Amino acid sequence: MAIRTILTIGDATLKKKCRPVTEFNEHLHTLLDDMTQTLIESGGVGLAAPQVGVLRRVVVLLDVNKDPEEVVELINPEVIDKNELEKTVEGCLSVPGKYGYVMRPTWAKIRAQDRNGNWFEREGEGIVAQCFCHETEHLDGHLFTEKVLEYVEVEQE
Ligand code: NI
Repeated sequence: MAIRTILTIGDATLKKKCRPVTEFNEHLHTLLDDMTQTLIESGGVGLAAPQVGVLRRVVVLLDVNKDPEEVVELINPEVIDKNELEKTVEGCLSVPGKYGYVMRPTWAKIRAQDRNGNWFEREGEGIVAQCFCHETEHLDGHLFTEKVLEYVEVEQE
């Protein structure tokens, strides 16, 4: 496994639409393992492949509502259901040090494939629902900064 470099806002790769994954092979598994290590190292809750320069529809996230936290791998994910939107604070590993209010559902359901190509559905609440939406948007070249209603000042330690 290896830590990959996380691209930051301004890099053209982050604005591109990612292609679906069609081959569930060793190459994909290495990408997923590296992304998980990179995510954990970064202290974030979600990471999409374009953030490490790979234009494929791949996401890893932490389900922080589970104890212990569970790493979830999402291949070709799609948000298929969500409840009403609520104003919440959001940030992104590709936009270091910036946080802002966005509208996100408090519950969402996602449909995706696992690393072997099997389809599954998963529900998430709170930060996990937010993460389903945020990460899926990365795959279409969108950053949360496009949705920010108002930036918030965060105290730096
Ligand atoms: Ni992000």
